[in-house]
Amino acid sequence: MDFADVTQRLQGDLDRVEDRVRRAAQVEFPALGRMLDAIVNSGGKRLRPALLLLAARPFTYDITPLIPAAAGIEMLHTASLVHDDTIDSSLLRRGQPTLNSSFDPGTVILIGDYLFAQSAILAAETMNPRVVAVFASSLADICDGQLREVFTAHRLDQTRDEYEKRIYGKTAALFAGAAEMGAILGGASDDDILRIRAFGADVGMAFQIIDDVLDVRETSDTTGKPNNLDLRQGTVTLPTMLYMAQNPGADEAALVQHVVDGRDVSDEEFARAVTLIQESGAIDEAVAAAQAFVDRANATVAPLSNRQAVADLAAFAHVALERVF
Ligand code: IPE
Ligand code: IPE
Ligand code: MG
Ligand code: MG
Repeated sequence: MDFADVTQRLQGDLDRVEDRVRRAAQVEFPALGRMLDAIVNSGGKRLRPALLLLAARPFTYDITPLIPAAAGIEMLHTASLVHDDTIDSSLLRRGQPTLNSSFDPGTVILIGDYLFAQSAILAAETMNPRVVAVFASSLADICDGQLREVFTAHRLDQTRDEYEKRIYGKTAALFAGAAEMGAILGGASDDDILRIRAFGADVGMAFQIIDDVLDVRETSDTTGKPNNLDLRQGTVTLPTMLYMAQNPGADEAALVQHVVDGRDVSDEEFARAVTLIQESGAIDEAVAAAQAFVDRANATVAPLSNRQAVADLAAFAHVALERVF
């Protein structure tokens, strides 16, 4: 099944989520209002709210608390992007200049904080403390993942486990949290909540692995983000790790080490290192690793009795793999 069919069936609910997201971005202070409006209307894919709604579908689907929960998850994601672009010094997102291309980091951090606060207000609107607890721990996990990234920068001697912990925190935890919040609000049993959460976590892992692949493989025209930003800032991702695991020649290994170190790297050296990774088969291996997470995600929810809901979740999982932006 196509994900377009799934979103079509969710469309009425997604429209209501959209309305809540836009309302949360409305503030009296015009300068801030314009900025928030531009951020929330800049073309995000709204994947996490879709996942939250889909996670409730196999169970009792009471839409009332799902709308603020889904809007809250999208606002939390948006806030994390504003901070992420500041941390990454990235000037482009969704094909448009980022806030930090025009404002100093302090100002941008405050705008991100404002969005975090709005997201928490929305989560609280569910009046469900268990949901609010999942929401808060997802935010803690994002910070954990982002900090792991900072502290492992410029290091090639990372294990696969360290990489997976880092991307779990920065990305998969929010997918897991969105799925868990949906299942809780849908009234799922504790076993099913765990299942749905594990599904979200695995799809989130695949999603970040593919994001790391796109960073190396695509151009900024297709992603709307700067290309090769990970390598440029010394963030070692799965494609680079898999390239090094292939035991390249001493010169090649030294070149990649030099680029990851990030000191006095010439444009030629950088371009050569990127080409080595692109042409090594590491990209295909990383895509296969993402596929394995999606396969495990689908196997986890397969026992759920609502067949339509299982098919919809599988269509969602597939999006993590085939996205090109
Ligand atoms: C970008 O997420 C951040 C990552 C976790 C890689 P999305 O690709 O879902 O961002 P938008 O909201 O659609 O722009
Ligand atoms: C995103 O990781 C993680 C969070 C937003 C928390 P990336 O740094 O890879 O995301 P992009 O590539 O900037 O979207
Ligand atoms: Mg980034
Ligand atoms: Mg990225």
